[in-house]
Amino acid sequence: MTALTLSTAAAPGLRADAIVIGVAKGAKGPVVAPGAEAVDKAYDGRLAGVLETLGASGAEGEVTKLPAPSGFKAPLVLAVGLGAVPEKDADYDTEVLRKAAGVAARTLTGSKKAAFALPLTDAADAGAIGEGALLGAYSFDAYKDNGKDPKAKNGKAPLAEVALLGGKPRDKAYKAAVERAVAVAEELNRARDLVNTPPNDLNPEAFAAVAQAAAKEHGIKVQVLDEKALTKGGYGGILGVGAGSASGPRLVKLSYTSSKAKKHLAFVGKGITYDSGGISLKPAGHNETMKCDMSGAASVFAAVVAAARLGLEVNVTGWLALAENMPSGSATRPGDVLRMYSGKTVEVLNTDAEGRLVLADALWAASQEKPDAIVDVATLTGAMMLALGNRTFGIMGNDDAFRSTLHEAAEEVGEPAWPMPLPEHLRKGMDSATADIANMGERMGGGLVAGLFLREFVGEGITWAHLDIAGPAFNEGGPFGYTPKGGTGSGVRTLVRLAELTAAGDLG
Ligand code: BES
Ligand code: ZN
Ligand code: ZN
Repeated sequence: MTALTLSTAAAPGLRADAIVIGVAKGAKGPVVAPGAEAVDKAYDGRLAGVLETLGASGAEGEVTKLPAPSGFKAPLVLAVGLGAVPEKDADYDTEVLRKAAGVAARTLTGSKKAAFALPLTDAADAGAIGEGALLGAYSFDAYKDNGKDPKAKNGKAPLAEVALLGGKPRDKAYKAAVERAVAVAEELNRARDLVNTPPNDLNPEAFAAVAQAAAKEHGIKVQVLDEKALTKGGYGGILGVGAGSASGPRLVKLSYTSSKAKKHLAFVGKGITYDSGGISLKPAGHNETMKCDMSGAASVFAAVVAAARLGLEVNVTGWLALAENMPSGSATRPGDVLRMYSGKTVEVLNTDAEGRLVLADALWAASQEKPDAIVDVATLTGAMMLALGNRTFGIMGNDDAFRSTLHEAAEEVGEPAWPMPLPEHLRKGMDSATADIANMGERMGGGLVAGLFLREFVGEGITWAHLDIAGPAFNEGGPFGYTPKGGTGSGVRTLVRLAELTAAGDLG
């Protein structure tokens, strides 16, 4: 993992492979951003012109490399685009800084150390730049031969060290912001690792083992229900989904408690370690990335560990509903009826609508503790991707104010999200002739139908929200900002922010 420090060093004397600066898009060409004064000065105040000559415009995502001026110990200056120059008296948006830092860290893959001299005006900016750098430096090469020895490999190792210039290393707020960035980014990157791990190596049992080890390390109580315990407890949803797999399902409960907590949050994650669709098998073209179907559980896991590392004054319980959805002679069939943990019966009309079945049991289990609120996170429906595209997650729930709180939390941390409704008229599409409810309804509004299904398994009177991260959880395109190809860790930062807001008493 990339090391992150605050430094008071001046850019010229710094021993590093590169100095990262910002360049914004002005009305008449590129504008050098605050933080780069020393570099500009060494260029005789002509840095903006030099950048323009090199073709820089200052657009977001743009990178321009130029040789460091004489007198600098570092050989390279990397100018990252920040987009429009902020309005008069305004600062750069934290998300702009986070993205720019991510782009810089990614561009510097293979380098050892970089000094970031981006514009920062407060501790929050420093935190955002640090977080962006750590998230942008991420790479997953455990399965590349050259991943075994970062030095000998022909590929390139992630940027090893980032020094943030321009901050106040002795200031409490700055220190805390950097500590937070490190904890959140490390756990988020671990969630990405879990998502990227191939499904032949990450089955429910293996995922549970990873959770157990991390829980032990961070003083989190952990309980794993295996097949036997799930059978005894009557978890028909999780068992039904896992029935076709040679790797049995698990329900993992992670309990982080703070002695100063006044509130209790429950996070529930969909953890389908591979979604083949089951007997309602997905066609080729739709199953190649389905190792990502445990992203919700990975994000919940990361958020609980991050909350523990940050010592947030709130109790957080994480529920990981883990199963592999496979077709076989023992698999659940379309037409089967499952008796769920809540006691309700579900007619399985499509075994590919499996996420809602495992979540239903975990939501009911979470409800038994009567938390102040439950948030579930799931790569639940293709329909949500059709609605919102592949960078934005949908937020549904049984409480409009809580849905708004989550939307604001997401916005604050730079996760694109949008509120979605749960229209009552879609409920009757799930009426079943045989059971209490079917696991499928109308095709139109499929993401909302799934949300309505989940709602039935939330305990009476409990505030609940559902994040459908099917779009943003897995990036099939090229990397952008601080988002790599593959697993993204979608939802982690929103959950952590919600926990922080709750700890601070900003929640009801
Ligand atoms: N895991 C999928 C949803 C998904 C699709 C996630 C694409 C990420 C990318 C989910 O289990 C599923 O297959 N849902 C079905 C539900 C339908 C059968 C009611 C879907 O969305 O098509
Ligand atoms: Zn499915
Ligand atoms: Zn699925």
